[in-house]
Amino acid sequence: MKSQSILTLLLVTTVSFKSTKVLKLDSKDSFKMLVLSDLYIDNNADANQAVDDMIKQIVKDEGYDISLAVLLGDTVNPDYEDSYTSRFGEAIDIFKNYSIPWVSVGGEDKPDNAVTREYMISRDQFLGQPDDLSFSAKYQNGNASKIGLYTQKIPIYQKDGQSLAFNIWILDSLGGYDCYGNKQGKSCISNEAIDWFKQETFNIQSKSLQSDILFTTYPLEEFMIMTTHYSAQGTCGQQVCCQAENTGLFKAAIDSKRINWIIAGGDSDNDYKGTYQGINLAYARKSGQGGNGQLKRGARIVKANVQNPIFWTSTYIRDIDGNIITQDKSNDTCARANFVADQSVCCSIYGEKTDGNGGNIFYDDLKDNEEDIIIIPAKIKVKPKEQNHL
Ligand SMILES: *[C@@H]1O[C@H](CO)[C@@H](O)[C@H](O)[C@H]1NC(C)=O
Ligand SMILES: *[C@@H]1O[C@H](CO)[C@@H](O)[C@H](O)[C@H]1NC(C)=O
Ligand SMILES: *[C@@H]1O[C@H](CO)[C@@H](O)[C@H](O)[C@H]1NC(C)=O
Repeated sequence: MKSQSILTLLLVTTVSFKSTKVLKLDSKDSFKMLVLSDLYIDNNADANQAVDDMIKQIVKDEGYDISLAVLLGDTVNPDYEDSYTSRFGEAIDIFKNYSIPWVSVGGEDKPDNAVTREYMISRDQFLGQPDDLSFSAKYQNGNASKIGLYTQKIPIYQKDGQSLAFNIWILDSLGGYDCYGNKQGKSCISNEAIDWFKQETFNIQSKSLQSDILFTTYPLEEFMIMTTHYSAQGTCGQQVCCQAENTGLFKAAIDSKRINWIIAGGDSDNDYKGTYQGINLAYARKSGQGGNGQLKRGARIVKANVQNPIFWTSTYIRDIDGNIITQDKSNDTCARANFVADQSVCCSIYGEKTDGNGGNIFYDDLKDNEEDIIIIPAKIKVKPKEQNHL
């Protein structure tokens, strides 16, 4: 037993490395990202195969020119803690086979789960080389455990590999249900991470404005504000389960003048995009077979084109059947008229479900019995949570 624990320790301590991979624009001065959310790999071989086949098909349909795959969270079904390492290995096998660089944003780690965030990132690094960019906050300025182990800045260079084209920012949402004691919504990006982001954006010399793309697992409160009070294109199929408290990332993003897109995972029946206060916000598309969600599985493609000083992006959903969904106002379930209730609290539409005292019932309170909550337009089953988060 003793030698085994020493071996484990060695693996964990020696494999954390700083990726030397330099990401560059392709020959057409663009950079295409394949954004995948909730692959949910577990012991269901058929479902895993379907996910694999879908990714292969998308890579082919896109013309084999993916510059980076971004895994927005729940790459492995969070209930599969015993087999986490092998399941994660299966999930990333396909990127290794195609030599597609990939990065993970973290996602959920259940409280009291054997799979801690430290363990997740150590497996990530152990299995992922040489195309793994998830080299963690360890190599950023700041205290990794406070800014979030997955938090990092990834520079994307011009074709020459020398000058900066733009940055990708990964902000770790810290994978749980607790934002500084507020449990009515998801966990949040830490105050230290936001200070880190402010400092890092301040330090960048390049004058290019609004050219950066930011990824995080859970949507920000501003996603909820955008759909409740403004508009978006795509599918608004469920409540926005945003971070329980607004720790100010959106304001910092505006002040930085650098951020073009903020892209989040989670909320498997939302896949919309929109613009709020000059920043583009988007969900990915639910990618994995397992877990919640009624949308046809797929991925979001985000393409950045850089011809200094001009920068432009395009994005669409590519679904499992090869369809491209541009979300240019057709089939727009986010239109204001489609909402019966405005949402003002993360993970709860006020007044839609209230307890005996008239208080809100939150998504995560619905765990004792499997229960239907009416969400527009689909009826979604919320499974009882196994762990006690509250
Ligand atoms: C990756 O390649 C290996 C070796 O050719 C193969 O066994 C495996 O099935 C491939 N994995 C995927 C996901 O295509
Ligand atoms: C980083 O934060 C952790 C958690 O709060 C703390 O235990 C640790 O001492 C800090 N490390 C440094 C170098 O400040
Ligand atoms: C709108 O959605 C329907 C039903 O899913 C689909 O058949 C149709 O092709 C969609 N139209 C467009 C323009 O995407």
